[in-house]
Amino acid sequence: MRPLHTVPSRLEVVLGILAADWARMIPDETIAEIRERMDIVELIGEYVRLSKSGASFKGLCPFHAEKTPSFYVHPQRRFFHCFGCQASGDVFSFLTQLEGISFPEAARRLASKTGVEIPEANAAESAERSRRKRREERLVDVMDAAAGFFAESLRTHRWASFARTMCEERGVSAEFIKRFRLGYAPHGWDGLVRFLQERGTSMEDAETMGLVAPRRGGGGHYDRFRHRLMFPIADHQGRIIAFSGRELPPPPGDDARETPKYINSPESPLYTKGSVLFGLHEGRVQTRREGYALICEGNFDLVKLHQAGFGNSVAPMGTALTAEQATLLRRFADRVVLLFDGDRAGRSAVRSAHPILAKAGLQCSVVGLPPGDDPDSFLTEHGEEALRERVSSAPNIVEYLIDQGAAESIGDPAKKAAAIESLGPVLRAVDNPVEVRLYVERVAQRFEVRDIDAVRRQLRRGLRQGQRRRRSPEKAPAEAPTPRTEKRTFNPIELELLGVFVDQPRLLDSAEAERFASVLTDPDLRAILQATSRMVGSCGEVEASALTAEFAGNPALSWLEGRLVQPSAGDEESARSVLLQSLPRLEARAREREALDLQKRAFEARRQGNDELADELTRQRLELLRQGVRP
Ligand code: UTP
Ligand code: MN
Repeated sequence: MRPLHTVPSRLEVVLGILAADWARMIPDETIAEIRERMDIVELIGEYVRLSKSGASFKGLCPFHAEKTPSFYVHPQRRFFHCFGCQASGDVFSFLTQLEGISFPEAARRLASKTGVEIPEANAAESAERSRRKRREERLVDVMDAAAGFFAESLRTHRWASFARTMCEERGVSAEFIKRFRLGYAPHGWDGLVRFLQERGTSMEDAETMGLVAPRRGGGGHYDRFRHRLMFPIADHQGRIIAFSGRELPPPPGDDARETPKYINSPESPLYTKGSVLFGLHEGRVQTRREGYALICEGNFDLVKLHQAGFGNSVAPMGTALTAEQATLLRRFADRVVLLFDGDRAGRSAVRSAHPILAKAGLQCSVVGLPPGDDPDSFLTEHGEEALRERVSSAPNIVEYLIDQGAAESIGDPAKKAAAIESLGPVLRAVDNPVEVRLYVERVAQRFEVRDIDAVRRQLRRGLRQGQRRRRSPEKAPAEAPTPRTEKRTFNPIELELLGVFVDQPRLLDSAEAERFASVLTDPDLRAILQATSRMVGSCGEVEASALTAEFAGNPALSWLEGRLVQPSAGDEESARSVLLQSLPRLEARAREREALDLQKRAFEARRQGNDELADELTRQRLELLRQGVRP
């Protein structure tokens, strides 16, 4: 219990409110029922390719990049654990961690997956929530219908040949037209409007999503996308939330007007600018598998990259890469390769992406394409092997920026000074001191400045200015994750035996369990043994998430989590034989300890002149040692 005089921290207050809020909204039984009904292997299998491994399943951890699987899921225990990064938990923690959503949100999603009803305490709130949800579903449905309509129009509309020709000229195959659901927004003013009306769709919803706009004067609506090649944009869950429409050459008889090359959907309840990455949904599996993503700029580039086998490509939809997009990407990859146009704009895009990527914890390298080339044209001219080679030999972003800065300022001392200065903030984002040193040397070498101290001074100047410019209050430093548990070592025999009981909780009801309990000395392991035994006594089995929840801060927690997903004692028979083999060793150790203790006490008694007690203690000690000799 917290002593009354301590003031709770702000975080605790917030957590308290959240917990209260959630407790009020979702009862424990409901949480338990969802956990019970949701097949954890099925849920995680939507994100990770799992294969059977003994009683559990294993796969590549979605929370960190790895080449060999250390991520385990145990179906009966309803629990996952990664031996590599220590991520761990049940279906709720999986979803909250992977999708970055709140607990109630995860609970709601799982409830709808499992058909469990979440009783709502507050009628008004509940009505509001379901109203919002129904609206969202309607909006998703409108977008989906529109995508279907555009795709159909691409096949059938008389002017769709312009769009088909463009795809053909750009080398987009029929398969990828289908896969990305590319479409054609018809020429004219009301193709989509009429389609949606016939379908009984609310014009208000279509307007909310920016598909149609109200006519000025008079009633009715008109299409916002007209005579355009349509790229549907899915969010990372696969819901179409926006469109990007590419201008096409005008059909005969239509005088060419100046129109923007792309028209994109406006922001809406489903879409905020800078929050999605085009291609991430389509490529999320490959991205996770490869551990890195290619970032390109254009819609065509993106489709062409996927088509060329680079399914791990994403595009930020015409905006500079945002922190939100970087964070989103970080859930799927830990490294990115920037594939920007080889022109000046491309290079400045690289520079502005650098701090954002660094902050999100993404490693980054840069493929410099020849000036005038974008990924699409590069692929057409040089083929995918050439691109693959460039990707695998891409310099990291800091090296790239150093080399570019040097190349741009050859022979111009003032430019050189400015370029070195502007590298200051770039180097600041590097946190490994050895790396920083190497980069400073690279700067000196590439810029051909012999005096390395002068280079340092110039870099530092840039740093100070960078800081002055960047001092904005909303940017609190990301909190360092607190270590979950202290590191400690355990007696391997004690761990092994405790593991046997965790694996085969039925053995907790045996004489061996009592023997173990009487010789297990480590207090943290004792706590686990007792709690497991209590839990099995009351509910007949080990409930992984409830059990681990009791042990926040227990240094053996990670061990326990690992053991829960990967039992290794085998069946009850072999588990028992492990016990019978190892218990005597622990017991021998306990006897030695006790004998030593008796010896000390006998010595002390003798020193105090109490020979009688000393003799008795010695007798007990010899008896104890004799027991140890007997089989
Ligand atoms: P680009 O001009 O490079 O277009 O803009 P692109 O996709 O390569 O098209 P092509 O190759 O010229 O046919 C890159 C991205 O910027 C956004 C689009 O997402 C585009 O794909 N953009 C561009 C807009 O949003 N609006 C525009 O007017 C232009
Ligand atoms: Mn292009």
